[in-house]
Amino acid sequence: MSPPAIRDGLPADLDTIDAIESACFEADRFARRNLARMLRGGRTQFLLAGSEGYLALCFRRGSSVARIYSLAVRERARGQGIAAALIEAARRRARTAGCRALRLEVRESNAAARSLYRRAGFRLRKRLEDYYEGGEAALQLEAVLDREDPAPARERPHS
Ligand SMILES: CC(C)(COP(=O)(O)OP(=O)(O)OC[C@H]1O[C@@H](n2cnc3c(N)ncnc32)[C@H](O)[C@@H]1OP(=O)(O)O)[C@@H](O)C(=O)NCCC(=O)NCCS
Repeated sequence: MSPPAIRDGLPADLDTIDAIESACFEADRFARRNLARMLRGGRTQFLLAGSEGYLALCFRRGSSVARIYSLAVRERARGQGIAAALIEAARRRARTAGCRALRLEVRESNAAARSLYRRAGFRLRKRLEDYYEGGEAALQLEAVLDREDPAPARERPHS
């Protein structure tokens, strides 16, 4: 089955995004009211893959670095390239907005996400001690955005 097409998330998608968020994260997840505010506001763009996954991409005024705030794919839809496709869409968005890099934080223990980001061209920038609830460290990763579209993540060799 081909992965669902990616589209912009709108305020009307609050239930869908909130359901993905609750299904995928136990701790440090966005409260529904924060999601609602971000969906209404102008600085965060939501990319949705059907009702299976989403990515939140945040732009800061005056900054050439865009942040991936959240990325999640429902368990039933994992392993089909949905997260990789969402990341590629975010890269294109950020590049189109004139950004030079994409940044994010990931739990040090999140092997699946770390492998996903490595495959998508993200590299370690710094380690942030005691970043999450409970004291776990975060790894801050960065991908430099080239002028040209990079090859799709799935066509890249493993690094
Ligand atoms: C991490 C997550 C987003 C991956 O979503 P996904 O749609 O299954 O990922 P994809 O199918 O696009 O995988 C792309 C690549 O990522 C890596 N990857 C994904 N899941 C992996 C896993 N469980 N173990 C190892 N590598 C993994 C692989 O390199 C994979 O490429 P391959 O299938 O060709 O080997 C998903 O597991 C998830 O939502 N987890 C819970 C929430 C979370 O941790 N979000 C990230 C917070 S920073």
